[in-house]
Amino acid sequence: MGSFRGRDIVSITDFTRDELDHILYATDAVEGLAREKPELLKGRTLAILFFEPSTRTRLSFEAAMQKLGGLTLDMSEPRVSAVEKGENLADTVRVVENYADVIVLRHPLEGSACLAAEMVDVPVINAGSGAEEHPTQAMLDLYTIKRELGRIDGLNIALVGDLRYGRTVHSLASALSLYNVKLYLVSPELLRMRHEVVDYAGRRIEVVETESLDDVIPKVEVAYITRIQKERFADPAEYMKVKGSYRISLETVGKMRQGAIIMHPLPRVDEIAYEVDATPHARYFRQVYYGLLTRMALLGLVLGAL
Ligand code: NCD
Repeated sequence: MGSFRGRDIVSITDFTRDELDHILYATDAVEGLAREKPELLKGRTLAILFFEPSTRTRLSFEAAMQKLGGLTLDMSEPRVSAVEKGENLADTVRVVENYADVIVLRHPLEGSACLAAEMVDVPVINAGSGAEEHPTQAMLDLYTIKRELGRIDGLNIALVGDLRYGRTVHSLASALSLYNVKLYLVSPELLRMRHEVVDYAGRRIEVVETESLDDVIPKVEVAYITRIQKERFADPAEYMKVKGSYRISLETVGKMRQGAIIMHPLPRVDEIAYEVDATPHARYFRQVYYGLLTRMALLGLVLGAL
């Protein structure tokens, strides 16, 4: 296993199973550590460069850094920055690296995080590169499964919804393929999982693609629901065809296995009925808390403090 110090987190496929397990272990440890050593990242600075809307991811990185005593520089308003004047991403990150020890980047272009990581010496953490990847979300998703169900190996897991444009499910499917799981990919035909992800995961584990949520829901221990990514459709008519394809209602929940959990990266639109929140299956708000812990662990690791 390579060292985490100074390491970029660009694609989930850059990580081995041992490394992912180490991140899960560090995430467990960081919860207590934050109480004992709230100054762990004192004197360190995280630059937050977000070129797309975000609430959770931006705030959770900010909170993670501050809970460990670090500072944050937020450039989430590209409209009021030099980016508006036409500065390109490569120049922006080369400037920002002078102010920060680590950069977290969200950008609408695929390949953006990879480019940024090549341009600078400080670690770059990809917080979403277009529809391509969202590796830290996949890490927190793994952590949620492990913490809530006690294991990842041996589980049946369904990824449901927009598997074409959803970056969280691209990273998560690849990550899960390093574990011994059976993966159900549930989507409308139009929103099927990208071929490269199906190929990557299918080389290691059993992958079943289907349109029927009803067939799959009684078979799984984890149902991971996603939002249809409206903003990524080139043609609004295509969006209208798939809008509201799946909805988790109390009736759906009634068909789930005992102890099965429902996850969602959030934000939710209409994929999960609000009544479901009060059932013991709903874990999406706890998932948010685990996201905070996972990002604390990742910052600690890449800054060499853990
Ligand atoms: C996701 C994203 O931005 O890809 N949100 C998140 O990071 N929690 C999912 C989404 O926007 O649907």
